Amino acid sequence: MADDYVWFEGLPFPVFGFSSEGIKEACSTFEIKDEDTVMVSYPKSGTNWLAEILCLIHSKGDTKWIQSVPIWDRSPCLETDVGYKCLNESEGPRLLMSHLPIHLFPKSLFTSKAKVLYIMRNPKDVLVSGYYFWSTSTLSKKIESREQYFKWFIQGNVPYGSWFEHIRGWMSMRHRKNFLLLSYEELQKDPRSTIEKICQFLGKKLNPEELDSVLKNSSFHVMKQNKMSNYKMLPEMLISKHFSLTRKGICGDWKNHFTVAQAEAFHKVYQEKMADLPKDLFPWE
Ligand code: A3P
Repeated sequence: MADDYVWFEGLPFPVFGFSSEGIKEACSTFEIKDEDTVMVSYPKSGTNWLAEILCLIHSKGDTKWIQSVPIWDRSPCLETDVGYKCLNESEGPRLLMSHLPIHLFPKSLFTSKAKVLYIMRNPKDVLVSGYYFWSTSTLSKKIESREQYFKWFIQGNVPYGSWFEHIRGWMSMRHRKNFLLLSYEELQKDPRSTIEKICQFLGKKLNPEELDSVLKNSSFHVMKQNKMSNYKMLPEMLISKHFSLTRKGICGDWKNHFTVAQAEAFHKVYQEKMADLPKDLFPWE
């Protein structure tokens, strides 16, 4: 296993499942169709939680699909070699996910009517979640310490590059009718209303029992037990015994990890990079 990244257009990608030729092909040739549903996020923002919700909405709360098919086959990742192939071969409306920054995304998205859901999360929690995810797997460049990962995250020297660039790029879509901006924080605060908002955006009507099932079966504790959704099916060579996709599932874990100096340094960079975006777009302080 290589110990660095796969590189494409100056952006680092995980080493397992990705190739620069594959990413290039996906970015330059993939055709998004009007009936597709596209989930976009920066890694560790609650992507799999949203995927589970979308799958359950699709099956009207029936759990057969989420309990029998791995999450990466239900919502294939566009820029992975396997995901791209699978999406290209599938007929009919597709549910796809991607962590690509907007400037690399296939251009067909911008003229299509496909529904796009972007989920964001407090970058400090994204950082902490990413530290545990990448350092307990061999999917990416080896991390020596939390301090090192903190620096890398701020520099954008982590899989998919800079969080700041990712969010700034995708925010330019926020006024489009076919774009729904979601946050991990609002899903935590009021999952029922957020799921209802998603249903409305997708034009799906669920009865109260179906909605209850979506809520229950996408909850942290149920997802943690579902081997089709908790990444426990990843090959052993890729993950250590401490690896867990469903690690803590809370908001504000950064407070248990950042030193005062790190919090101040992060705040400074955040203020600089995000200065021209309205503060009320984001549900974190
Ligand atoms: P933590 O590492 O902070 O616990 P992604 O899917 O984008 O990789 O994001 C992973 C993060 O989402 C992890 O955060 C994980 O615990 C959290 N997560 C996954 N499923 C969740 C759920 N059903 N409810 C709440 N958080 C969830």
